[in-house]
Amino acid sequence: MTFTIAIDGPAAAGKGTVAKRVAAHFGFAHLDTGLLYRATGRRMLDGLDPVEAARGLGAADLEANALRTPEVAQAASRVAALPEVRAALVDFQRAFAQRAGGAVLDGRDIGTVICPEAEVKLYVTASDDVRAARRHAELIGKGMDLSLADVLSDLQQRDARDTARASAPLKPAEDAVFLDTSEMSIEEAVAAALRVTAERMAAAG
Ligand code: CDP
Repeated sequence: MTFTIAIDGPAAAGKGTVAKRVAAHFGFAHLDTGLLYRATGRRMLDGLDPVEAARGLGAADLEANALRTPEVAQAASRVAALPEVRAALVDFQRAFAQRAGGAVLDGRDIGTVICPEAEVKLYVTASDDVRAARRHAELIGKGMDLSLADVLSDLQQRDARDTARASAPLKPAEDAVFLDTSEMSIEEAVAAALRVTAERMAAAG
């Protein structure tokens, strides 16, 4: 059986948490596609050509803890605007989406470009302030010393760049279900995503 759940949305909207929990619930595999761009951005900061960096990504590059910093996130969003970088990462993502047993992918262009045929498409959002507060708490929890204002500015800059780029911009698929998590707990957001998925599964038979 293949069954693909595509979860897109702006930075730090809660896509990753929802994706992980939905995947665990159904026993599906989960791919955080942002990690591919973060790892490519990290390699660019280390001096590699971004396209070569994307083509040569290995499993070890994705495991680096240091990928979760705002510096790497900014580099990710710069390399993510390059069509050749995106092209280098398409096959891996599509193969992952088609794996037997079901898959959840979260990112920016999953429902629009990577898996336009996905059985479930969610577009997860939250207000800028809520997203910044959540990401700030997460980074402080990891021992990073950052101001809320810096985190907010990282998210807003990336959203602007991700939305404005010509190649696979951040935008909801026409048939995506919106999930605004501004006033939702994690449990509520996950429950809403599970409901949508269960409905689609029943419809798919
Ligand atoms: O965790 P957060 O939402 O802050 O970011 P992420 O999902 O790790 O993505 C980091 C950056 O990678 C984004 O700002 C995008 O520029 C890029 N990205 C993308 O272009 N397409 C994707 N499918 C996933 C991420």
